[in-house]
Amino acid sequence: MCGIVGYIGNKEAMPILLGGLAKLEYRGYDSAGVSVFEDGIRTVKSQGRLTNLVEKIETEGSSASHIGIGHTRWATHGEPSDRNSHPHNGQSGKISLVHNGIIENYLEIKKMLLDNGYIFQSETDTEVVAQLFDFYYAGNPLETLQKVIGEIRGAYALGVLCSDHPDTLLAVRKDSPLLVGLSEDGNYIASDAPAILEHTRDYYLLNDNEIAYLTKDGVVLYDLVGNTIAKEIYHVDWDIAAAEKGGYDYFMMKEMMEQPEALRKSILPRLENGEVKLDDFAMTKEEIANLNRIHIVACGSAWHAGIVGKYVIEEMCRIPVEVDIASEFRYRNPILNKNDLCIILSQSGETADTLAALREAKKQGVKVLSIVNVVGSSIARESDYVLYTWAGPEIAVATTKGYSTQLSVLYLVAMYFAKERGTVSNEMYALCEKELEEMPEKAAKLLQLDASLAELAKEYASCEDVFLIGRGIDYAAAMESSLKLKEISYIHSEAYAAGELKHGTISLVEEGTLVIAIATQDTLFEKLVSNAKEVKARGARVIGIAPEGQTLMEEVADQVIYLPKAHNLFASSYVVLPMQLFAYYIAVERGCDVDKPRNLAKSVTVE
Ligand code: F6R
Repeated sequence: MCGIVGYIGNKEAMPILLGGLAKLEYRGYDSAGVSVFEDGIRTVKSQGRLTNLVEKIETEGSSASHIGIGHTRWATHGEPSDRNSHPHNGQSGKISLVHNGIIENYLEIKKMLLDNGYIFQSETDTEVVAQLFDFYYAGNPLETLQKVIGEIRGAYALGVLCSDHPDTLLAVRKDSPLLVGLSEDGNYIASDAPAILEHTRDYYLLNDNEIAYLTKDGVVLYDLVGNTIAKEIYHVDWDIAAAEKGGYDYFMMKEMMEQPEALRKSILPRLENGEVKLDDFAMTKEEIANLNRIHIVACGSAWHAGIVGKYVIEEMCRIPVEVDIASEFRYRNPILNKNDLCIILSQSGETADTLAALREAKKQGVKVLSIVNVVGSSIARESDYVLYTWAGPEIAVATTKGYSTQLSVLYLVAMYFAKERGTVSNEMYALCEKELEEMPEKAAKLLQLDASLAELAKEYASCEDVFLIGRGIDYAAAMESSLKLKEISYIHSEAYAAGELKHGTISLVEEGTLVIAIATQDTLFEKLVSNAKEVKARGARVIGIAPEGQTLMEEVADQVIYLPKAHNLFASSYVVLPMQLFAYYIAVERGCDVDKPRNLAKSVTVE
C-alpha cells in the first residue's frame, strides 16, 4: 500500500523524507519518489526499491531544502514505472502532489483537463488531481485545495507543495489515513506513524476533509469552507516495531481489520448507478453470451474462494464451472474448448503452479481472466484480462483480506456475466448490488466480535482435532476456515460436507472433539442442525455459525456465532471473518508465530 511522508522545518528535508520512506517499506511498494523545494520544485522518482531512488538522488546531487514530500507507490492505476510513480506535478511546474487512495471520477476530470489543453505524463488518477490543482490555482493554495476536494470523489490522502509558497505544505484526507506530526524543529505529514516516529510522537489525527496548513512554525487546521478547527494533540508511546503494525501485535490482525476498507476499495468503485462496471475487462457481449464453461484455477485459500465462485457463477449465470487446484490442473491434461474462459485467482500473482496453469490454458487457446492483488505481477502481466482486488499489501503469511477481496470480485464478475447473458432478473440484480454495497459495513460490524472470539479461543485452545461441517457454499467456507486454523495454530482440522460425515469420518468424533457447524443457507439449515445433533450425541462440543435470528442453533450448539443477515448467495462469505479471528486467537494462546507459521512462505514461487 502506498505511503506518504512530508516535512517543513529547520532541518534538511531530504534525509527526513528518505528515512521516512524507508520506515514505510514494510507496507510493500513498487516505486518511490520525492519532491523538494530547491530553486523551484525538484522531483526525483524511481521504479523499484528505495535504494534506486537514493542512488539517483546521490548521482544527481542535491542542495539543501527545508520542505518536501515523499511517497512509496503500490501500483493501482498504471503499471509500476518511473512515470507513474509519485509525486506528480502540475503542468505549470508550480505544483507537486502525493496521493494515497483511489480517485473514482478521475476519467471524467481528465477529459475536462484534456479539453483544456492539459497533457498527461502518466496513467495515474493522482496526476489528474495534480493537474486539476494546477488548473484551478490562482495564487492561493488553500482555496485551490478546497476547490479540488469539492470536485474529486473517492479515497485520498494528499500532500501538496506549491512553488509560489515554499514556506507552506498542505495536506488533506478522506477515507485514507493521514497524520500531522508536530515538533519544535518543524512539522510533518505521514500516512503512518512509523514514517516520522523518530522525529515526533505528537500528532493531529485528521478527520475526513480536514485540511492541514503546515509551516515550519506551526500547523493550522481548516474545514472545507475555511473555518479553523481546534483539535487535541494525540501523543503516541508505541515502539517503532509496534507502530509498523499500526499498534497491532501481528500483521495478520492488522490485515483482518483492514478487510472492510479493502472490500470498499474492491467493490464500490465498480458499482455505478446500479450497475457493475469492470473498466478494464474487454470481453465482448458475444464472447460472454457464447461462454461454454469456466475453469477457475488457483491454490490454497484462493482455490477456496474459487469454490465459492463456482456456486455463485453457476447459480447466477447458468454457466458450468470447474474449479481446479493449479498444481493438478497443469498436469491433468484438462479438456478445454475455445469458448471456455479460465479464471485465475492469486493474491501474489506469482504462485508458480498457478502461473503454470495460466500458461497451460493459454497454450490451449483459452482466454484468461485473472483476479490478482499485486499489480504488475507475472500472472497479471500474462493474462488477457485482469481485475485487481485492491486489498493492499498482505504481509502475514496466512491470507485474510486477499481472500475476502477475491470473493468480492468473483461476485462482481458473476453479476456482470449474468447481466450480459440475461440470466438474472432485475430484482435479483438489484438485490446483489445492495448485498455488495453493504458488505464492507457488515464485515466491519462482524469484526467487532473480536473480544468475544478471543474468549472463545481460550476455551478451545487446547483442542487437537477440529471438524468443520457445512453444506453447499458453506462447505467452501468450512474449507477456508479449516485452513486458517491448521496453518497458524497447528491444530489438526478438517472440513467436511456435512452429509458426508456419516460415510466414515464420524467415527473420529469422540468426547470433547470440537465440531464447528456452519449453517448460513436457510434451505439447508435444519439439515445442518440435525448433523450437529448427531455429533453432539457422540460427545462433541459444538460451535454453531448461523445468521442472526436463526436461534434454533442454540438448542444444539454450546456456543453460536451469529452472522449478519444476507441473501443465501452472500451469507456464507461472512463465515470466514470470525473464523479468521478464532484461528488467530487460538494461535496466540498456543504461542505460535502468527505471521510466520512454520514451514510456510508468503508466496510459493516454486512447484
Ligand atoms: C493460506 C494462503 C495460501 C495462499 C496460496 C495461494 O492462508 O495464504 O493458501 O492462498 O498459497 O497464494 P496466491 O493467492 O498468492 O496465489
